Amino acid sequence: MIRTLIAVALLSSLAACRGEPSKLPPIHLNPNMDTQDKYKAYGESKLFEDGRTMRPIPEGTIQHGASRADDALYRGRDEQRATEADEYGPFTAEWPEALKLDAALMQRGQQRYNIYCAPCHDQSGNGKGMVVLANAGLTPPPSFISAEDPNAKRIAAMPVGEIYDTIAHGKNTMPGYAAQIPVEDRWAIVAYLRALQRAQNIYTARN
Ligand code: HEC
Repeated sequence: MIRTLIAVALLSSLAACRGEPSKLPPIHLNPNMDTQDKYKAYGESKLFEDGRTMRPIPEGTIQHGASRADDALYRGRDEQRATEADEYGPFTAEWPEALKLDAALMQRGQQRYNIYCAPCHDQSGNGKGMVVLANAGLTPPPSFISAEDPNAKRIAAMPVGEIYDTIAHGKNTMPGYAAQIPVEDRWAIVAYLRALQRAQNIYTARN
């Protein structure tokens, strides 16, 4: 009987601990990132004037990769000649107005071309880059510069927008480089490609 009483007394003393109000956080032996200091969506924030945790999107923000306002710049297309069937228009033969064609762009183009294109197309543009010479099973790309090569002549006559598009999306067996080469750099490469062609007198147009 006395044992039972002691047991009950002990148990009830334990039970008393549970409901004890305390301002201290509960002891959490293995936190395991269960509780973190963070703002939650729709939560309140004292930091910002409007009291909201979620911030409004800054004006003029464009979703990554979604900037499509300038068809000539981003797509290499002539939007003036867009039709219902051809939403963006044909490839533009004009350099996008947003682009500043200067020596800096040309130098950038040379550097980017030598990194991204020369492995296959060669630094000279003759289509016999290291990858081709290593006989990696790649269909050899066409020359950009040989006046005897009808493909080179065709590429020299191509609108700049089509070369831009080839860099972005590839063509036939050539892979696209949109993920590696940002928009301005693609145009810089197009400019440099024109310079390579002009140096061999295969490209004579004014644009
Ligand atoms: C992995 C090798 C490889 C790389 C790197 C490469 N190309 Fe090509 N490119 C090719 C091949 C192969 C072709 C021929 C595609 C076909 O018609 O089958 C080609 C074709 C082309 C053409 C002609 C398309 C046509 O209409 O005939 C252009 C222009 C071109 N490449 C530009 C570039 C530029 C600019 C770069 C650098 C950003 C580049 N290429 C990087 C392999 C490559």
